[in-house]
Amino acid sequence: MPDRDPLPPSSRRLHWLVAALMLGLAGVGLYMSRTETWALYPWHKSLGVLALLVIAVRAVQRLRLGLPAPVQPTSPALQRAARWAHGVLLGLTLLMPLSGMLFSGASGHGFGVFGLPLVPHQDDPSRPGEVLPYHAGLAELGQQAHHWGGYLLLALVTVHVLAALKHHVVDRDRTLLRMLGRKAP
Ligand code: HEM
Ligand code: HEM
Repeated sequence: MPDRDPLPPSSRRLHWLVAALMLGLAGVGLYMSRTETWALYPWHKSLGVLALLVIAVRAVQRLRLGLPAPVQPTSPALQRAARWAHGVLLGLTLLMPLSGMLFSGASGHGFGVFGLPLVPHQDDPSRPGEVLPYHAGLAELGQQAHHWGGYLLLALVTVHVLAALKHHVVDRDRTLLRMLGRKAP
């Protein structure tokens, strides 16, 4: 993307909306799975599936426009690191909902959007009260990807936020301000 300051409103809105959805869903996901709060599972899944719609729009926009150019020239190594980090963050926004759907779908637990089933729950006829996986191997793959993807997401977002703060406080440049939509004086 050419050097735009502030960044286009659609890029900014999508960045903050996807950021809020990802952080909110990660928080709920960690909480519900550790405390076994089953009532939160349908909410997490429904919002996660809806989040994928916004995420897909953002991913297409990024593929068309590219990542924003840095506000001021930095070392090539730092620029490469930032592009990699942004690329992986973008990839994780797709991996998290897709792996969640793979896990929930293939495991037989099923998922849907606020009561509308997309992959139905499958009872095991030989073991009352248990679910029958559609594909145990794919369910395991989805669960592992969702679990480790969640940790990688939280680690990278921490670095990402610290980098944004460093730009603002130490370098005193417009990296954060142009993402917040503040006009240059
Ligand atoms: C869109 C972004 C999403 C994010 C950021 C997210 C994040 C997370 C995180 C961090 C966990 C805790 C994982 C762990 O520590 O093992 C989790 C759990 C879970 N998520 Fe998601 N999730 C998302 C979407 C989805 C979707 C779309 C589904 C299914 C349709 C889903 C289904 C689940 C399930 C079933 C668990 C519980 C896993 C378990 O009990 O082992 N998630 N999620
Ligand atoms: C809540 C704290 C966050 C802050 C303060 C923040 C700040 C920023 C800033 C200032 C930029 C512009 C970087 C530049 O111009 O080079 C940016 C870009 C980016 N951020 Fe964040 N961010 C946050 C959360 C997130 C989250 C949770 C994600 C994804 C899961 C994310 C993904 C991205 C990506 C992929 C870019 C590259 C540019 C774009 O696609 O719009 N950010 N962020």
